[in-house]
Amino acid sequence: MPRIICVAGARPNYMKIKPVMDALERRGAEVLLVHTGQHYDPAMNDVFFADLGIRPPDRFLGVGSGSHAEQTGRVMTAFEPLLDELSPDLVVVVGDINSTLACALVTAKAGPLLAHVEAGLRSRDWSMPEEVNRVATDRVSDYLLAPSPDAAGNLRAEGYREDQIHLVGNVMIDTLLANLERARASDVLDRSGLTRGGYGLVTLHRPANVDDPGVLAGLLKALGEIADRCPLVWPVHPRAAGRLAELGVPGGIRLVPPAGYLDFIALQDAARIVLTDSGGVQEETTALGVPCVTLRENTERPVTVEEGTNVLAGRDPARVVRTVHGVLDAPPAPRRPELWDGRAGDRIAEVLLRGGTARTRPRPTDLPETAPGPESLARSAPMDRTFPI
Ligand code: UD1
Ligand code: UDP
Repeated sequence: MPRIICVAGARPNYMKIKPVMDALERRGAEVLLVHTGQHYDPAMNDVFFADLGIRPPDRFLGVGSGSHAEQTGRVMTAFEPLLDELSPDLVVVVGDINSTLACALVTAKAGPLLAHVEAGLRSRDWSMPEEVNRVATDRVSDYLLAPSPDAAGNLRAEGYREDQIHLVGNVMIDTLLANLERARASDVLDRSGLTRGGYGLVTLHRPANVDDPGVLAGLLKALGEIADRCPLVWPVHPRAAGRLAELGVPGGIRLVPPAGYLDFIALQDAARIVLTDSGGVQEETTALGVPCVTLRENTERPVTVEEGTNVLAGRDPARVVRTVHGVLDAPPAPRRPELWDGRAGDRIAEVLLRGGTARTRPRPTDLPETAPGPESLARSAPMDRTFPI
């Protein structure tokens, strides 16, 4: 059986890696968990290992915070010797954070096969660091494990070989469904003095929303108006904490520390509406059937808009307020997307373990059987990246 390194580094990775590790181990693979340490606060890290029952990492790289280059470089420098030492057959990376890209680049040059869980998601917004991480990680991956048909379609349009693309479903929803009953047993509503359907839940952490004081002040004004109709609870991401303390928040908005996984699922499940810029929360609200308004101009998860409960509101304050009122007046009727059924981890393990270590597979750097034509290149090209004239 192959030796497989699974990589996790930050909050949204833990719920994605857990079902993959479990499914691989159930089939007898030797799994080693490497934690990069991109997130490290107990409330951003330890609570998820406890809530999800993830065993302690086999290796901890302890990279911490820094600029994109510092953080990505530190993960690469620490991960490279590990590959020599552990000599895995395969490395699995999830999502779109800096740790994902860093470990993908190192693996692609070192030799083991590389699998990307959540491949093919595209916002086509190159101002998002995550879009760079997604596109570059896919490019060097052998196995592209897509959560939804749109993601698989993006990969086809970009010219990837058909044998690299695997539509497996959404691992985040595996973890959600596996833990929903435990989450519903949480006493977080009582502890927080909240009632089912009596509040809105807010999360914001995208640099485009929280780093610029002008943008954040506009969003706070909008949230203040919304809170007049529906009180808001906001577990604050550390990226936003300092700025919020400087600006102060309008009445009707209650700031609380980042919530643990079970508490946060319980808070989503009982919310009247969720306002977010998180990728994972767009998906979880769709699976739960809870109305979601996303404070972004675009999403790499269009299935949550087309089939789920998600509505894009952008970040213009007046439009945000208008959109939220519209959703409160007429909540969308959801449908759970294809293969968001709790079995994505199993499908991933089946793909990865089919044919043993599969070292003879062509590498992603091999030319595709059919080179992408101008049409597919146009579709995969960034929409708004232009050189200043
Ligand atoms: C990162 C990911 C983002 C993901 C988010 C999930 C990248 C480029 N960004 O964003 O895609 O949606 O995680 O939450 O990889 N900090 C703490 N304690 C921590 C971690 C961070 O205080 O445990 C603070 C530090 O001041 C740090 C800042 O948060 O500089 C940002 O952390 P970082 O990991 O760089 O990016 P996120 O905004 O968390
Ligand atoms: N989450 C959590 N507590 C919080 C906010 C989010 O447990 O206070 C969970 C959420 O349920 C989802 C994941 O964290 O499972 C999403 O992570 P995040 O929003 O940090 O990152 P993104 O998905 O945007 O990359």
